[in-house]
Amino acid sequence: MKKVYFETYGCQMNKYDSELVAGILELEGYEQTAKADEADLVLINTCSVRENAETRVFGRLGALGSLKKQHKELVIGVLGCMAVRLKNEIIKKKPFVDFVMGPDNYRSLPDLLSRINNNVEEHVELAEFDSYETYGELFPAHSIGVNAWVAIMRGCNNFCSYCIVPYVRGRERSRSVKDILNEVKKLAKQNYLEITLLGQNVNSYKDENCDFADLIKMVADVPGIERVRFATSHPKDLSQKLIDVIAEHPKICNHVHLPVQSGSDKILKLMNRNYNRSHYLKLVESARERIPNLGLSTDIIVGFSGETEENFLETVDLIEQIEFDGSFIFKYSPREGTAAYRMKETLTEKEKVNRIQILNKIQSRITLKRNQKIVGKLEKILVEGPSKKAKPNQYMGRTESNKIVVFTSEKLPEQKILAVKIVDVQGHTLFGEIV
Ligand code: 5AD
Ligand code: SF4
Repeated sequence: MKKVYFETYGCQMNKYDSELVAGILELEGYEQTAKADEADLVLINTCSVRENAETRVFGRLGALGSLKKQHKELVIGVLGCMAVRLKNEIIKKKPFVDFVMGPDNYRSLPDLLSRINNNVEEHVELAEFDSYETYGELFPAHSIGVNAWVAIMRGCNNFCSYCIVPYVRGRERSRSVKDILNEVKKLAKQNYLEITLLGQNVNSYKDENCDFADLIKMVADVPGIERVRFATSHPKDLSQKLIDVIAEHPKICNHVHLPVQSGSDKILKLMNRNYNRSHYLKLVESARERIPNLGLSTDIIVGFSGETEENFLETVDLIEQIEFDGSFIFKYSPREGTAAYRMKETLTEKEKVNRIQILNKIQSRITLKRNQKIVGKLEKILVEGPSKKAKPNQYMGRTESNKIVVFTSEKLPEQKILAVKIVDVQGHTLFGEIV
């Protein structure tokens, strides 16, 4: 059996894609290894969203070059978004890379590998868009655990001015309801309990007359599935119908990840986000009214071109007003080819660092405050496994609202959905006792 080693950077969609590729390779007789130096094939699945993700991959490729000197037969491939954006540059700078392959081309991988292994070809660049490719019927080699990701669409049509995704993942297309439900039913048979539906903007899902709210309900109705989550929602498209379905269906988790990006109308306009601050605030208000104990998280970009101190303070004010449960805060990273790349950058790295630190500090305070409100309450958690900072007998699970709860138990509980009483909070982590 040949062995493949994966290293995956970036978002959940990329992680899903690595599982998809692993599924394709399993059919070819490959098995996965966790050690690069044992592998016949090393695949680096890359992200282009920010410059530092790309820099890290170039650094990592350097190390893999040394590995190849020891194992001459090793085949190294670069997959994902960088394969599209930097295909020529990768092979020029790292000539030991055997091939680069974009996100729409994974079906060609077995054929490409046999040509490379038979020395028919070397240094292949295959990064062509295929606006119909959804890998609909393929079954990924899902990672072991209680949760499985399922892609329901690929690509993005939104062209937020800072974002490289539409240029590297192509136009938006939805996978068919039939293929999604087949995958979910198979996962249920394999004892996965939680499904996370993935897309760059799940709210624009469409298969004939079925929209995202219809789809998520069907997924949640699959026997054996206990919880359904989804990411990511665009505030311009989050519908009342979806909010109602989340509120009404017991298996759809009361958590929404709703990237706001900025609290300033001027910046939102420059970002081409197609909503304003007041729309976002109203959306959150109606979601919180309708969905009890809603967990709400967001993404924020600081230091976008043109962001004045006043605009930044509008974001600070928005965070204080909304009190998100958690925020992912990023420094703006200009991406060549996007609309915003042509706008003159107005902030230094130091100013961006300063702003990100301010926001992280505020968010930590708010997260702690919101978590403290749960202390003393009962929560249902889905047990995932040993706690990350594995102290003996400590395990972790997640609340419906996506908060991590650590609890003590003599062994991993057999029952996967547990009632716990929250007794303490440290930083972002809640501590619970089984009741
Ligand atoms: N610079 C910084 N952050 C970005 N994101 C997307 N593009 C950029 C960029 N050029 C962030 C957005 C998005 C998240 C996945 O990554 O906040 O929601
Ligand atoms: Fe990028 Fe905007 Fe599409 Fe998200 S919605 S992937 S931020 S272009």
